[in-house]
Amino acid sequence: MNKEPVAIAPSPEELDYVEMDKIIEETYGSDKENLIMMLQGIQGRYNYIPRPALAYLAEKTGVPLSRIYGIATFYATFSLEPRGRNLITVCLGTACHVRGAKRVQEQIEQLLHISNGQTTEDGSFTLESVRCIGCCSLGPVVKINEDVHARLSPDQVAKTLERYE
Ligand code: FES
Repeated sequence: MNKEPVAIAPSPEELDYVEMDKIIEETYGSDKENLIMMLQGIQGRYNYIPRPALAYLAEKTGVPLSRIYGIATFYATFSLEPRGRNLITVCLGTACHVRGAKRVQEQIEQLLHISNGQTTEDGSFTLESVRCIGCCSLGPVVKINEDVHARLSPDQVAKTLERYE
């Protein structure tokens, strides 16, 4: 695996407008009250929010692009950078940290040849960290997509990642 993460973002021409219309118009009736849900829908489609999608959302709802951009950058759950098919979230909060979360994170970085915030070249994994995911007694905790892996030790990391490749 190459150390430099590469991810291809869709250009405005490559955006899936059928899917975008489904999310914006069919599901949420182009109602600007549903902006956050629309952004969640777009992120669900791409695993992140492509910038051309923000402009299209502004056009369809009549909400200024600056406001939509503000919402998309305010919530940590949204990402404007391409993410891999699997999102690994390592908890580095105090409870997890004292139980060795940093060593688990380093093991993931070493195995995938990426650093925190990066995506593997093949687009399989993105690595991110958070300060707490709300299950401190189970630390160190690593979330992969919606799965929570509790009390993960560095030597369990490789086997755990294999399940998502
Ligand atoms: S500190 Fe890790 S889950 Fe709370």
